[in-house]
Amino acid sequence: MKISIIGAGNMGGAIAEALLHKGTHQVTVSNRSEGKLQRFAQAGADVTTDNCRAAAQADLIVIAVKPWLVEQVLTDLTAHVDCREKTIVSVAAATRGEQLCQWAGQGPQLLTAIPNTAITRLASMTFIVPVRADEATTRCVRELFDTMGQTMLIDEAHLPAATALASCGIAYALRYVRAATEGGVQLGFRAAEAQAIVAQTLRGAAALLDVEGAHAEAEIDKVTTPGGITIRGLNAMEQAGFTHAVIQGLLASRPQ
Ligand SMILES: NC(=O)c1ccc[n+]([C@@H]2O[C@H](COP(=O)([O-])OP(=O)(O)OC[C@H]3O[C@@H](n4cnc5c(N)ncnc54)[C@H](OP(=O)(O)O)[C@@H]3O)[C@@H](O)[C@H]2O)c1
Repeated sequence: MKISIIGAGNMGGAIAEALLHKGTHQVTVSNRSEGKLQRFAQAGADVTTDNCRAAAQADLIVIAVKPWLVEQVLTDLTAHVDCREKTIVSVAAATRGEQLCQWAGQGPQLLTAIPNTAITRLASMTFIVPVRADEATTRCVRELFDTMGQTMLIDEAHLPAATALASCGIAYALRYVRAATEGGVQLGFRAAEAQAIVAQTLRGAAALLDVEGAHAEAEIDKVTTPGGITIRGLNAMEQAGFTHAVIQGLLASRPQ
């Protein structure tokens, strides 16, 4: 597949890097300023500052500019390039499908894909919304993002909640890391050691949930001996409002 990425910033750059690393697609990267393109050229991409040239040669176009620039980029592309047989994937947050359809006009298949920053480590939780796409195209886009982490197909109404859980969620998980690291220092570890311990413990906890049918509470039970130290720790955390704080944070960060 020929894939063109419009916008070589954090998100577009991460997607381009992942695709170039995989090496199974022909990748073109287009960006407004030339400076950001050099590293993608060195990695084997065709690079350009001409979005229309990038789009013309692609089967799939990824729009990775800031949300307020999507209208201009999309209308410009579809005015100058025949996109009827192409697929356009927007990764812009807070851009409604209805708007994408309007800006892209008749023809191209349209999807929204919302990754999180862990895409740079091929560990994204990416939500796919088939705005105007058939099943085969949706499957194809999903398979593409599956190579950069995990994907979940959702409807547009769930995007704000998904963003709170997975995009803001990166910050929340890392805030736990900071808190646990500070606790680790108080318990006698150096900060770097404590962070490494906490990070690996989180990887371990996540891996325990990767098993079919796994449940967080069942895994917690396994380390919670009656009258033991884990339950004392858990109860002290709950007394300080742990679960309540997390839920309140998620509700507060759900975009309106
Ligand atoms: N970062 C995240 O965690 C994240 C997560 C999910 C979704 N997203 C979405 O991803 C999109 C991009 O975010 P980002 O963080 O990657 O932003 P960014 O780092 O600012 O990247 C945007 C890129 O688009 C380029 N650009 C601007 N106008 C252009 C145009 N007309 N034609 C071609 N390229 C153009 C910019 O080039 P110049 O620098 O030369 O202006 C810049 O390199 C946003 O819509 C955001 O909502 C981001």
